[in-house]
Parts: sequence; structure tokens; C-alpha cells
Amino acid sequence: MKRPNILALHGPNLNLLGTREPEHYGQQTLDDINAMLAAEAERLDCDLATFQSNHEGELVERIHAAREEGVDGIIINPAAYTHTSVALRDALLGCGIPFVEVHLSNIHRRESFRQRSLLADAALGVVAGLGAASYRLALIGLVEHLRAAR
Ligand code: DQA
Repeated sequence: MKRPNILALHGPNLNLLGTREPEHYGQQTLDDINAMLAAEAERLDCDLATFQSNHEGELVERIHAAREEGVDGIIINPAAYTHTSVALRDALLGCGIPFVEVHLSNIHRRESFRQRSLLADAALGVVAGLGAASYRLALIGLVEHLRAAR
């Protein structure tokens, strides 16, 4: 059986993790999170690529490329675009790749504008509020889903 091919996408300002509002986002850098995801992907026997951008269009184009590459599933922390981006929603739905939405913080106990996600109802699942573990749990859930669906 082919190894699941997973893409982890990180939206704007997540390159600042480690120094950015640690009370919300913790002390780990994006490199730390990507290294943790790579180790988890190895354990789960799947392939993993990661990509971060501060630009909405670059994230849209990375999702389009994922379809061409035969990516099986996406985990995405859309960051601020969670709350604003019809374009990211349309890209994910248009490419038809199952995805899990991830947040480091619990967006539901923050400002009201963060409590609305334009992606969540189209996601396979949402993991929020568990810090870096949100990403790891999203990867585990996505891979289990893909294996069960085969
Ligand atoms: C975030 C929550 C968003 O509201 C915020 O804009 C982010 C990070 C999180 O991981 O908790 O940049 O997606």
C-alpha cells in the first residue's frame, strides 16, 4: 500500500513562532514544529512536505500544486486567513484534498473575530488549543482517516 503523502501548510506570521505572542502560541519555533511533524510522519510511515507563506496567493498556488503532485491530505494552520479567506476555502474545495484545520491557540475562547472560520465546515476535522500538539494530533487523525478510507 502506498505511503500517504501529506502536506502541512502554515499561514501568515507563523514564521515568527517562538517569539510571537508566546502566551498564545508557545515557545516552539516553526522549525521545531516541522521537525516534530517530520518525526511523527516517519513513525506513521507517511511522506510529509511543509510550506509556510505570508501571502494568500502563494498558499492557494501551493494547494493547486498539491493536486498535481497527488498529495493525499493536507493539514493547514491558515492563521489569520482562517477568518477571512474565501480564496483558501475555494482552493481546498476545488482541489478536493481532505484537510484538517489546525490552531495552536483555542480560537473559540479568544476575540469574537477569531471564533469564525471560513474553512472549518469543509474540513475533515479541526484541532485547536493544544499548542504544537494540535499539529501532531491533526497528522495522526488525517493519516488514520486516509488509511481507513482505502
Ligand atoms: C492561529 C489563530 C489565528 O486567529 C491567528 O491569526 C494566528 C494563529 C493559531 O494557530 O492559534 O495567526 O491560527
